[in-house]
Amino acid sequence: MTDASQPAPTTSEVRRAVVERYGARARAVLEGAGVATSAAACCGPAVPTESQPIEFVQDMPAARPDAAQRYGTSNYDPTTQLADLPETVVGASLGCGNPLAIAELSVGERVLDLGSGGGIDCFLAAKQVGETGEVWGLDMTPEMIALARHNAEQVGATNVRFRLGEIEDIPFPDASFDVIMSNCVINLSSDKPRVFAEAHRVLAPEGRLRVSDMVWTAEPSAETRANLEAWAGCVAGALLLDDYLEAIRAAGFGDVDAHYEPSETGLVSADVVARKR
Ligand SMILES: C[S@@+](CC[C@H](N)C(=O)[O-])C[C@H]1O[C@@H](n2cnc3c(N)ncnc32)[C@H](O)[C@@H]1O
Repeated sequence: MTDASQPAPTTSEVRRAVVERYGARARAVLEGAGVATSAAACCGPAVPTESQPIEFVQDMPAARPDAAQRYGTSNYDPTTQLADLPETVVGASLGCGNPLAIAELSVGERVLDLGSGGGIDCFLAAKQVGETGEVWGLDMTPEMIALARHNAEQVGATNVRFRLGEIEDIPFPDASFDVIMSNCVINLSSDKPRVFAEAHRVLAPEGRLRVSDMVWTAEPSAETRANLEAWAGCVAGALLLDDYLEAIRAAGFGDVDAHYEPSETGLVSADVVARKR
């Protein structure tokens, strides 16, 4: 709970901070690969330099050292999952788990990735569902969508597409997907009940929710909760695990379960599963 002297950031403050942070990261990856971006060439926030680094969850004092253990590419098998992917996919991996490891995808399934970033989980999912399946990535940061579409061309993936939009207002009809996955994203939303309600709406009956996300096992300080940088860094917006699972149940899901390694800080990366009832 936050006290009155430390108000939580507003929804618009959170969205602006998230889009700026992840937009800067996407531009840095694209420019590192020699791809010009119109936003970077014009008037977007500066691309980070060594003296002005982007802070992510592993940089946050409250998160060290435990959360860093499941951050980015450390979650993937370097031989079977990363070896064939371009650097612009691997270098943009900002997850805190590997939802593919719990997704149990089958050929022909329709998959939606909430907050797809540079697309790493989409490209891995695309291999598993094959040409008869389809994968969509949804992200609200325009530069991330540009990076993901660039990556789809590099990978040669024909069954993956990316759409700009918000996970609180998923731009797809009811019952469009068999599986929804998400990797280190829902903690960034200031309306998690709505995200889970939307996920439930666009899943087909018996559809699976497969999420890796940051959660707290003990309430952090009011100072941490009020810190906008920590919110955009996947720390301050993370719910208590019990509240997270209750929000999923309240949206109508059953078979809700979570696995995580405990940490001294109380901030953990959890693998969460649920099924649409
Ligand atoms: C920590 S990154 C994770 C990206 C990707 N899932 C991965 O594993 O690399 C979070 C991503 O979620 C997106 N995001 C955050 N909040 C969002 C929201 N409310 N709606 C849509 N996308 C969101 C950000 O733009 C960013 O690309």
